[in-house]
Amino acid sequence: MRIAVCASEGAPYAKSGGLGDVMEALPAALARLEGNEVALFLPYYGKIKNNAAYAVEKVAERYVHLGWRRQYAGILRLVGRNDGVQVYFIDNEYYFGGRTGAIYGDLDDGERFAFFSRACLDAMDAVNYIPDIIQCNDWQTGLIPVYLKALYQGRFGHTRCMYTIHNIEYQGWARADFFDDLLGLPWEYRGRLDMGGSVNMMKGGIETADLVTTVSETYARELMYPYYAHGLDSVLAANAWKLTGITNGIDTNTFNPETDKALPAHFNAETFTVGKAACKAALQEEVGLPVKPDVPLMVMVTRLAGHKGLDLLCYIARRLMWEEDAQLLILGTGEAQYENFFKDLAKQFPEQVSAQITFNLGLADRIYAGGDIYLMPSKSEPCGLSQMNAMRYGTVPVVHATGGLKDTVPPCDENGQGGLGFTFQSYNADDFLAAVKRALNLYNHNRDGFRALQKREMEQDFSWNVPAGKYMDLFRNMLSW
Ligand code: GLC
Repeated sequence: MRIAVCASEGAPYAKSGGLGDVMEALPAALARLEGNEVALFLPYYGKIKNNAAYAVEKVAERYVHLGWRRQYAGILRLVGRNDGVQVYFIDNEYYFGGRTGAIYGDLDDGERFAFFSRACLDAMDAVNYIPDIIQCNDWQTGLIPVYLKALYQGRFGHTRCMYTIHNIEYQGWARADFFDDLLGLPWEYRGRLDMGGSVNMMKGGIETADLVTTVSETYARELMYPYYAHGLDSVLAANAWKLTGITNGIDTNTFNPETDKALPAHFNAETFTVGKAACKAALQEEVGLPVKPDVPLMVMVTRLAGHKGLDLLCYIARRLMWEEDAQLLILGTGEAQYENFFKDLAKQFPEQVSAQITFNLGLADRIYAGGDIYLMPSKSEPCGLSQMNAMRYGTVPVVHATGGLKDTVPPCDENGQGGLGFTFQSYNADDFLAAVKRALNLYNHNRDGFRALQKREMEQDFSWNVPAGKYMDLFRNMLSW
């Protein structure tokens, strides 16, 4: 099967969050399957261009129609990736080259990604890569199925399109005149993109794609409710027949405690008691906490954003530190109120709390490896990847039972049996505290039970093999229509 994957970010070239990780691993997992040909289309951001590690060759150029505009698109082929995925970058200096360095956040993001969406189709045409399937992601590529249906049926008449929602909070809103001025679409598509008089690109993707997926089964059900859907619940309910949840995997080659170069010691499901103890001691030292092997170390690697459940942690943090002989380590950046809260907390409890307000991938891995308990009380979580990273490295998760957290962390009892972690049902600080205390109790009073739980987590298969097979089933399904 010939597959084109289109996204606004993909590790290692450009990444702002989980979408970037998925775009690294999913195309590779699809390419490993017999008979597949996979190409990945990404914007050629300045930071990719300036990175000497990524050699490219120009294979074509096109002028992309955007309303009355004709915008240059250079089509660059990445040289030297050898996992079967062919990467193409869309080059346009004005839209992607000379920007600040952040992937999103410019006032003309709508125009930038409308351009990218249309340029992807033009690029496929230009390099003569007419796919059976286009898989596209989030609002930035929401216009791909729209353009495909409206203007590209000639060459792409047999191409089917899957649209995947990773984060419904960002929908690609634009003013009504964006439609006339920029998109150059036939008038009958106005309604498909319209939300209350404005343009909504994610809605366009949902309405026009052949199938819609999201990144966990529970989240697919949650999206039917206003609480989770950020205004798109009725659109999704009307399209429920084509919505499926496929829970993400993680890249188990990159995230491997036996080989991860960022770690001071290596381990697996048999050797972890020794290996993790070494990692824990080194980590405590690195982040300035007292090196205490038997004090439970609770950790978090997260964007410091509201929906990650930080308000719950802020509410209980002082009480937790007073009542428990435990350590807390946070790594991440984000909203000032949370950055300040955790810096203050670390000042108040220097023996117990370390706040690493920075972005550091190596340290993130050392935290997954050196921690005992991983906190993830997200208010909502489409899938979440770090709880799987944590479990792969033998760190026991405490999570709010929502979205992908619910699907990947089945609850265990107070003896650590029957599931993979500690969960709480309603989004409430006391319930979160109770779940954290259950985890601490198991660690403090039943270390064998805690170790058995860690071992079970490390033996799980969180790889992309299973989800990639599910994507293939849906691809085949679309092609049978
Ligand atoms: C988004 C979601 C996260 C998900 C990731 C990859 O970042 O917020 O839950 O794991 O996309 O699909």
